[in-house]
Amino acid sequence: MEKVKVGIVGSGVISGIYLKNFKTFDLIEVVAISDIDLSRAKARAEEFGVSRVCTVEELLADPEIEIVVNLTIPAAHAEVSIAALEAGKHVYSEKPLAVTMEDGSKILELARQKGLRVGVAPDTVLGGAIQTCRKLIDDGWIGFPIALTAFMMAPGPESWHPNPDFLYDVGGGPMFDMGPYYLSAFVTLLGPISKLTGSATTSFAERTITSEARYGEKIPVRTPTHIAGVLNFANGAVGTMITSFDIKGGANLPHIEIYGSQGSLSLPVPNMFGGTVKLRMARKDSNWQDVPLTHTFTDNNRGIGVLDMAYAIRLGYPHRVNGEIAYHVLEAMHGFHISSHEGRYYIMQSTCDRPEPLPMNLQATHSGLFVRS
Ligand SMILES: NC(=O)c1ccc[n+]([C@@H]2O[C@H](COP(=O)([O-])OP(=O)(O)OC[C@H]3O[C@@H](n4cnc5c(N)ncnc54)[C@H](O)[C@@H]3O)[C@@H](O)[C@H]2O)c1
Repeated sequence: MEKVKVGIVGSGVISGIYLKNFKTFDLIEVVAISDIDLSRAKARAEEFGVSRVCTVEELLADPEIEIVVNLTIPAAHAEVSIAALEAGKHVYSEKPLAVTMEDGSKILELARQKGLRVGVAPDTVLGGAIQTCRKLIDDGWIGFPIALTAFMMAPGPESWHPNPDFLYDVGGGPMFDMGPYYLSAFVTLLGPISKLTGSATTSFAERTITSEARYGEKIPVRTPTHIAGVLNFANGAVGTMITSFDIKGGANLPHIEIYGSQGSLSLPVPNMFGGTVKLRMARKDSNWQDVPLTHTFTDNNRGIGVLDMAYAIRLGYPHRVNGEIAYHVLEAMHGFHISSHEGRYYIMQSTCDRPEPLPMNLQATHSGLFVRS
């Protein structure tokens, strides 16, 4: 199969793991890398042996590039993805799809008009843990899903991220930063959301960076940092979810649990690919049991969503972490904030299909195995 040539825009923190993993994928070749700050692109190119460093405009004008991988900050996602689609490239973007729903729809509409694909992180939903849970649910181990709880309660990323400003700006906050992992996992496991309610608050007007380079610098907070919500899924299940950057003393709550008519399922953090999956059946003598993972990709496999999209382009099947799911997730994230602001249920306008599960025992380098089993 002819390799799919990829150009990367955005050479910050997360680009390192994509570049490392792309080197191991047989169908992907990174031919150019860019950033608004070209010194960052140069540093990554040297580290990972990428032959071409160029401006974003030059990268988009390169006729051999088929997929643009957009690893810029959320505020730049729409601008870069739209420019890439205008240039006739498929786009795979880091999450979220865009900051506003208007920009999200523009991206999807443009891709439709041009017959191009939009892929959007997180691809952790293709990881061994979530795919194992998907199989357990689809095979009926917990019966029909009744409820879900999810808690992402953290002290905030200013302790480790070198430039955390975007994480406290509009399009950041715990919902837009971590919500996509949780909501994409929910949609992969239970299907689309029909309505939701949220209560959001901003506990601190500014945050103090404690990561090394900018230690002690204060940054403003322009987005809610603690959001509690209730979600109704189209399949009838009810979810309870908290995302927070304001929990300073730590919390002792599960990451995600799904409760069904025949049993309960406990999931690891959804921003990782592996972790421990536990099952407890609805029997008196049943205890929580670790379930051996049925699926591969349990390391930091960021980029397998791009690999799936590359195979999908060559073989003509629907790629899994796609723009429709990302738009549904984007709408839900806004929905929590709108509901909180307006004091009402937010009724979801969009829907999406659950993505096709991955077959078991895949190897990331093995051609063709991403196809429907
Ligand atoms: N850092 C993480 O652990 C992590 C994990 C998963 C996902 N992400 C996501 O990855 C994305 C990037 O995060 P990051 O942590 O790498 O941020 P970062 O700030 O380290 O890197 C972003 C890069 O994009 C560049 N950039 C900004 N606007 C641009 C534009 N218009 N054109 C070209 N380049 C531009 C910046 O100069 C910077 O080098 C975000 O969407 C984030 O949500 C980050």
